[in-house]
Amino acid sequence: MSNPKKNIKNIRIDYSKSSIDFNNIIDSPFELFQSWLDLALEIDPDNANAFVLSTVSLKNEPSSRVVLLRGILEKSFVFYTNYSSAKAKDLDENNNVSLNFFWPYLEKQVRVKGIVSKLSHSDSDAYFKSRPFSSQIGAHSSEQSSSLTFKLFI
Ligand SMILES: Cc1cc2nc3c(=O)[nH]c(=O)nc-3n(C[C@H](O)[C@H](O)[C@H](O)COP(=O)(O)O)c2cc1C
Repeated sequence: MSNPKKNIKNIRIDYSKSSIDFNNIIDSPFELFQSWLDLALEIDPDNANAFVLSTVSLKNEPSSRVVLLRGILEKSFVFYTNYSSAKAKDLDENNNVSLNFFWPYLEKQVRVKGIVSKLSHSDSDAYFKSRPFSSQIGAHSSEQSSSLTFKLFI
């Protein structure tokens, strides 16, 4: 017998957990974000820091992909990537980005618009040295040691 849920038009979810009481909310978007991230880390620690990063090329072609949040530094979101990747080329040409965090178990998403800039060498080195030795070797071989930070418009 086929599973009726496999037919996407039959999927029904009552997203009751996702309601937000705007009269009773943390004022600072960063603090609110951190409180939701903390909850997500408790429920699903392996996936809570994943987000969709959308970039737009010089030809106005949008692209999205999943990357991992590696820290929050001075109200910026930090992620790491390879400078020779397609996204790095987009970011070089157009530093406007959109981020989307989606935590299914919380039934919550956070959408962020901002501009991207490279992390300073000292912050980047400090992060790189804080990683386990095996990751440092992997990063060297895959050129993933480069870093970019988000500064946000809110
Ligand atoms: C769960 C997950 C986490 C990922 N984390 C990163 C990351 O932190 N940095 C990164 O450059 N790519 C990461 N990737 C790979 C990207 O999604 C993407 O495939 C790759 O960076 C090439 O993207 P681009 O061709 O648009 O530059 C991750 C993929 C998955 C599925």
